[in-house]
Amino acid sequence: MMRGGAATPLQQLVAQFGSEVIVTEAAQLAAVSVDHRRLYAGKALALALPRDTSEVSRLLALCNALRIGVVPQGGNTSYCGGSAPDESGTQLVLSLRRLNKIRNVEPINNAMVVEAGCILADVQRAATNAGRFFPLSLGAEGSCQIGGNLATNAGGVNVVRYGMARDLVLGLEVVLADGRVLSTLNALRKDNTGYDLRHLFIGAEGTLGVITAATLKLFPAPHSVAAAFIAVPTPSAAVALLGRLRERCGDLVSSFELIPQVAIDLVVRHLPGTRAPLAGSSPWYVLAEITSAIADEPLAERLEAARADALESNLASDAAIAQSERERQDFWHLREHIPEGQRRDGASLKHDVSLPLDRLAEFIDRAGGWVRDHVPEGFLVCYGHVGDGNLHFNINQSAVTPAAVTPSANGLLARGEEIRRAIHDLVHAFGGSFSAEHGIGRLKVGELARYAPPVELSLMRAVKRALDPNGIMNPGKVLAKD
Ligand code: FAD
Ligand code: MLT
Ligand code: ZN
Repeated sequence: MMRGGAATPLQQLVAQFGSEVIVTEAAQLAAVSVDHRRLYAGKALALALPRDTSEVSRLLALCNALRIGVVPQGGNTSYCGGSAPDESGTQLVLSLRRLNKIRNVEPINNAMVVEAGCILADVQRAATNAGRFFPLSLGAEGSCQIGGNLATNAGGVNVVRYGMARDLVLGLEVVLADGRVLSTLNALRKDNTGYDLRHLFIGAEGTLGVITAATLKLFPAPHSVAAAFIAVPTPSAAVALLGRLRERCGDLVSSFELIPQVAIDLVVRHLPGTRAPLAGSSPWYVLAEITSAIADEPLAERLEAARADALESNLASDAAIAQSERERQDFWHLREHIPEGQRRDGASLKHDVSLPLDRLAEFIDRAGGWVRDHVPEGFLVCYGHVGDGNLHFNINQSAVTPAAVTPSANGLLARGEEIRRAIHDLVHAFGGSFSAEHGIGRLKVGELARYAPPVELSLMRAVKRALDPNGIMNPGKVLAKD
């Protein structure tokens, strides 16, 4: 205790939990204070490393009593700055990394119970080892945590068939802001007993409580798989192709990704050992995958037939069907490394948007034209999970600043707000969403306030006040501070 005065919040945390749980070492604090994209360099009061749910519960109870802001952190791979503390030096980063046990795999129930700090790839592996399949899959799966996936309601490459993270959850264990534990960890498929509270916490980005464990849905393992890399002339051809493929293959279609030539060029240029799957050049490509739980299904034959049909009807100009598991993985390696190719190429602005499928091609046309005309210091890298109407409408800084750009406007990032506004306004006018799968975090608080209907915003505020009356949970994220 401080001589002659009350103990500071930090001293009280250390006194109650010890230095094994409350870390104050500068290098460790620096590492957890910056978000993945380095948009925000915050300053943590301390880093909490609880070992189990009851420790999370005691921590939150104390933070609530002392009014200490708490920033839950998973793998810190999210894109909107939600997992980083602010610059005040008063917020506690609460990492879930020690809550990393697979508690249970229940093949008969087609369910598993995992702790929030489990790495997504470990969750997938545990399901596979039990002869089942956990379908959530995204480029950061080697480092993001299932708790972070649920807190952001992550999407990824299998949504077209299996849905978002939200759709994969049967039950949750959550520590509320005041330390109480809400547990609905069961594997029941049917349970209509009042309000479905778990969905409040999924996608809340740590603003309503800390997810400590979840019961996840498992699916039959995909014993047969086939993938095709298809050159298409336009996004509109890609959307038409998706319709045709679904007519032929129904819900065997698991992934349907749109990739522009420029993204392939970035990956091949910056990631040694990668190569383009097709010899020629096309403005756009689709990576499509179909899977079946039945072994030895002739899926490649189905894709062959779809390819012939697409070539004949000019929806495709070329296509490669993976001839081996290695080749299929090469297709995916290329797709999953687009963000890394973009990062290595330089600064970028990301717009994670979704559109009604029937207006997606028109949007790319309009918004792409706008970028060409108004953003001479950048170039468009537009790709995404087109099966879900989700585009990553990203813009990379050009290597050479065009003469047309004045020195004061030099630098794409300096124009970030203005560009974001123009693109999101257009998305809104098209009936789309300014955040398809990456959430709000800190980056898009202003966008939510701008585009969400007033009734929706006021209900969100009411929920926040009810569950976190002292505003300690991830302050300043999703909703602006009161
Ligand atoms: P963090 O970044 O640590 O946290 C994210 C948010 O959740 C923060 O607000 C944090 O406070 C909160 N939070 C974390 N854990 C908890 C918890 N246990 N309880 C309560 N709140 C918590 N995202 C997609 O949706 N689809 C993609 O295809 C995709 N691809 C990506 C590819 C790459 C290469 C990278 C780097 C990222 C990608 N992302 C994608 C973004 C990111 O991986 C996801 O948002 C992921 O779900 C974040 O998980 P995380 O554990 O890193 O969470
Ligand atoms: C992806 O799908 O690769 C990511 O969600 C998009 C991104 O990194 O911008
Ligand atoms: Zn994505």
